[in-house]
Amino acid sequence: MKKYFFVLMVFVLVMSLGGCKQDDKQGSDMTTEVTTETSTEEASSEEEKLVEVYLKDVYGSHNIKVGTCLSPQMVDDPELSKLITEQFNSVTMENAMKPDYIFNKEKSIEAGDLVVEFNSDAIKMLDFAKANNLAVRGHTLVWYSQTPDWIFYEDFDTSKDFVSRDVMLARMESFIRQVFEKLDEMGYLDLFYAYDVVNEAWMEDGSMRSNNWSTIIGEDYLWYSFYFANKYAPESVDLYYNDYNEQFKAGALVRFVETLVDEDGNYLIDGIGLQAHLYTFDNVFSYFKAVDKLAGTGLKIEVTELDVSLGSWQNTLDATDENLKAQGKFYYDLIKGFIDRVDAGTINMDAITFWGFEDSLSWRSEASPLLFDKDSNPKYAYYGAAQVKELSGYE
Ligand code: GLA
Repeated sequence: MKKYFFVLMVFVLVMSLGGCKQDDKQGSDMTTEVTTETSTEEASSEEEKLVEVYLKDVYGSHNIKVGTCLSPQMVDDPELSKLITEQFNSVTMENAMKPDYIFNKEKSIEAGDLVVEFNSDAIKMLDFAKANNLAVRGHTLVWYSQTPDWIFYEDFDTSKDFVSRDVMLARMESFIRQVFEKLDEMGYLDLFYAYDVVNEAWMEDGSMRSNNWSTIIGEDYLWYSFYFANKYAPESVDLYYNDYNEQFKAGALVRFVETLVDEDGNYLIDGIGLQAHLYTFDNVFSYFKAVDKLAGTGLKIEVTELDVSLGSWQNTLDATDENLKAQGKFYYDLIKGFIDRVDAGTINMDAITFWGFEDSLSWRSEASPLLFDKDSNPKYAYYGAAQVKELSGYE
C-alpha cells in the first residue's frame, strides 16, 4: 500500500517533537534538526510550515511551473494522480505524443499522406490535464528514435525506397500542421505552453546526429522542422530544441540555434530544453557553466526531464542513506542554482519538469533517481527539490 507523504511528515514531526534520537532511518534524520530545539508553540507552526511544502508553491513563488512526465498508469491510480495534482502544475506525456504513437498507418496509406491521430492514452491524459488545470509540454515532433520507419518510405512501405527530399519535407509539414490543428479541434491546444519540435539531434563531439531525416532531407531538416512548427503553432506555444548531455553539447547547441532564424533574422525557436538526466557524481558548478552559455543565446531555458541517478553513468550506486543524502544535496544545489538565476534575471526560465516522481516508475528505477520512494514517501531528494535545505541531506 502506498502511503501519502503528507501523513508521514506529520507522523515524523510528532515523533521528533517527543525527543526521538537521530538514527539510521531516513524519516528520523529528516526532522531531528529542525525540531529538536523548538518550543511546543514554535513546533506547531513548524509543523504547519513543513506540511505545506508543495513543489508547485515553492516554484510558483519564482514564477516557475513544475512538471512531471505522465503515463496512463499514473492517471489510473488515484493515489498517484492525487500526488500529481497536489505537487505539479505541468505535465509531459512520457510516450503518448511521440512519433511512434501519433500516426495512423492504414489511413496514411489510404490518404497518400501522413495522417495524425492521437490514441486513447493521449486523450485520457489530455483530459486529465484539462480537468486538473495542468499545463502541458508537447513532446516531441522530429526525433531519430521512437519514430516509425515506414513514414520515410515510398507508399509507406519499408520494402520500397526512401521518398525524395521534397516528399519528406511535404510529409513533415503536413504532420506538424495536423498536430496543432487536431489539438485545436479537440479543444486541447490551449493547455500547451511549450512543444519540443526537435529532440536529440546533436552528438557530444559537436557533430550532427545522422538519421533518416538528415539522410533524406539533408542537414536543413532541422531548420525546416522549426520553420513549419513556427508556421502552424500558435504564439502561445513556445518552440523548443530538447537534448540530453547538454552540458557537453553547449558549444554546438549555441552555434546551432543561431542558424534557426527567418529571413529577417528573427528566431524560429523560443527555447532550449535541458533534459537534465544527471548523476550524483556530476558537478553542479560545471553544469551551470553550460547552462549559462546556453542562456547567453537570449532564448528561454527549460529543464525538461530532470532526474538524478545515484552514482555515475558507468556505476550505479545502491540506495544507502549516504547516497540518498548526496542525492538530496545535489537536487538542492541544482534547483537553487536555477532559482537564483531566475530571481537575478540572468536566465529566462518558466518551467522545470521532472521525469517522473516515484523511483519505481522511473525509466532508471535501478538508480533511484526521483523524489519519492516506491511507497510515495518523500526522499531527501524531495526536500532538496523543494528547497528545504535542513531536510535535504545537508548536516
Ligand atoms: C529521452 C527522451 C524522453 C524519454 C527518455 C527516456 O530523454 O526525450 O522522451 O524517452 O529519453 O525515458
